[in-house]
Amino acid sequence: MNVSAISAQNVYKVFGRRSQEAVRRLQAGKSRDEVKPLGTAAVIDASFEVQPGETFVVMGLSGSGKSTLIRMLNGLLPPTAGRIAVDGADISDVSAAQLREIRRRKVSMVFQHFALLPHRTVLDNAAYPLEIQGVDKAERRKRAAESLGMTGLAGWEDHLPSQLSGGMRQRVGLARALAADTDILLMDEAFSALDPLIRREMQDQLVELQATLGKTIVFITHDLNEAMYLGDRIAVMRDGRIVQIDTAEKILSHPADEYVAKFIADVDRSRVLTAGSFMSRPVVTIPKTGGPQVALRELRQAQVSAAYVVDKRRVLHGSVYDDELLTAHRQGAETLDGLIHPDTSAVGPDTSLAEMFAPAAEARLPLAVVDDERRLLGVVPRVALLEAMAPTSTADSAASPEVAVSAGRATPHGSEPTAEHVAAAQPKNETTAAAEPPAPTTTEGGAR
Ligand SMILES: Nc1ncnc2c1ncn2[C@@H]1O[C@H](COP(=O)(O)OP(=O)(O)OP(=O)(O)O)[C@@H](O)[C@H]1O
Ligand SMILES: [Mg+2]
Repeated sequence: MNVSAISAQNVYKVFGRRSQEAVRRLQAGKSRDEVKPLGTAAVIDASFEVQPGETFVVMGLSGSGKSTLIRMLNGLLPPTAGRIAVDGADISDVSAAQLREIRRRKVSMVFQHFALLPHRTVLDNAAYPLEIQGVDKAERRKRAAESLGMTGLAGWEDHLPSQLSGGMRQRVGLARALAADTDILLMDEAFSALDPLIRREMQDQLVELQATLGKTIVFITHDLNEAMYLGDRIAVMRDGRIVQIDTAEKILSHPADEYVAKFIADVDRSRVLTAGSFMSRPVVTIPKTGGPQVALRELRQAQVSAAYVVDKRRVLHGSVYDDELLTAHRQGAETLDGLIHPDTSAVGPDTSLAEMFAPAAEARLPLAVVDDERRLLGVVPRVALLEAMAPTSTADSAASPEVAVSAGRATPHGSEPTAEHVAAAQPKNETTAAAEPPAPTTTEGGAR
């Protein structure tokens, strides 16, 4: 039988001197407010299983008990009542030494403002958990360097945290958790302090790492979009209780109660996913400085008939088509002058699904997503939009969030394309292109 990575059974946490009595009354049906004189019931009767390799998201308003819950999962806080098991082993009443062992070997945690040690280098910060484990210096530096590489920080090993941007520090925190090489990662609002673009990048990186390393992740967030992008399942907490555990799609289409409905009320389904969350990495781009022959070669290699042209800064200049390139090449043309069709339909990363539809319908290529300086960030294939917009077969006539979510998830856009060769092309067979797994995202972007 499949052993859950994490199992919580009827878990309670009450802060206060009469916590046991509070739990007894809660079990007898009293409300959180009624037991208030006995203590603060932060988590009430929580039960769930997290499967190995699953990303389990916990959402809820401030004070609903999310941090308390996650802290019980690695024994930072003992539950007042109930059972918590990691890998099938009960951690509810093990010794302090055993708990430390679990935190070293099985469960790492990434905090929102994790304390990097300011006078230690990036490498030594990432190696810190291994140092605590007693791993020898050469070995821990090697493993820390590997995990820094995975989070895009290769080359930054000898810098101090103060020399890094917020996003990069967050990566060090992630690298530190990865260096410990535990199967389970607990992440408490780990990305919430980051600005939206960096946050997006970190989400992608997490999805990518999760896919390659197969970690089990418990991720807390306030942000519904983040929850839907990352989560295989989402638990919604209210006043200490888990009121619903479901896929994003089920939560959208069948909210368990008024609270959950309100929680998601602001989310217009077609607006949940933006171009930024939906875009994938372009198959190929044509360097503007190349001539028709270079362009034709790129198209041939990518097996596409048209592609976007970008310059060294990845600024989008338009698109070229194979037939015109071939004619020009035969006529002896050596530059792309006059062959680039300006692209007028490109959208910004915050464009909603609904707003992408019209421009996508006109475009010959997958819709280009560009930043404020018209640099190409990614592309949205039309078929991905069509799938996301298609109504469900049930009576629920709303757009199918499941398709939308899975499409968004299946094609996490890469870190911004870093080389001009990495960009857009129209696959000859759009359906195939959309079904293809995304190209591996690069990690060198982390050095920014
Ligand atoms: N150490 C503590 N002692 C007493 N009360 C606590 C303690 N930690 C948390 N609480 C209370 O437990 C409740 C849940 O807090 P918790 O930090 O788990 O919420 P949260 O969902 O993580 O909120 P936020 O989104 O603001 O981080 C709150 O009422 C909080 O005041
Ligand atoms: Mg919290």
